[in-house]
Amino acid sequence: MKKGLFITFEGADGCGKTTQLKLAAEYLQEKGQSVLITREPGAKGLGEKLRDILLNYDGIVSDRCESFLFLADRAQHIDTIVLPAVDAGKIVLCDRHIDSTAAYQGYGRGQDLDQINSLNMIATNNRKPDLTIVFDIDADTSMQRVGEQKDRMESAGIEFFNRVRDGYLKIAQKEPDRVKVLDASKSIDEIHQDVIKLINSLLRVF
Ligand code: TYD
Repeated sequence: MKKGLFITFEGADGCGKTTQLKLAAEYLQEKGQSVLITREPGAKGLGEKLRDILLNYDGIVSDRCESFLFLADRAQHIDTIVLPAVDAGKIVLCDRHIDSTAAYQGYGRGQDLDQINSLNMIATNNRKPDLTIVFDIDADTSMQRVGEQKDRMESAGIEFFNRVRDGYLKIAQKEPDRVKVLDASKSIDEIHQDVIKLINSLLRVF
């Protein structure tokens, strides 16, 4: 049987990727594709418990512990949800994945990038996404969109945000075939058209 596809949606907080993921899913379903929407951290089951710790725990979380919790969630997610769906021929649209750990824990928190990249490959069994779309916005637009109600990660401040944003742009420069950057300050519909172009060019070779 023909295998499916694994597409990830990435970007700093408030970039609008979740809205775009839903629109892309609707578009693909209308075209008759079988789609699975999922997310990291915490798709379901054990992942939801890890997500709760990662976003809501109010005690001290060491930087390395934070990385391992995201990676533990990833290993469980890829093994039990993502790869079974791809093997069953589905198009899996995933809200955040390996590049979030490189951007947030690597570039943002300053953890060793080579180590993060190696750990990411262990967590995913070396399976990278077929396409990664990075939604790029500046700090002011992000702050307006996120609003007052911030979770543990969103409370990290503007300098952290800028390191994460620059991190994503560097990742895209290093892996231009897989990682595509879109201007997420455009209107929802304009961005949706850009997303569809990227996904359709992947579907043509699929
Ligand atoms: P979430 O509520 O899913 O936010 P968003 O809508 O922005 O995706 O929160 C996920 C948070 O966790 C977000 O601030 C990014 C962060 N994160 C990491 O720091 N590292 C990771 O590996 C992942 C997957 C997420």
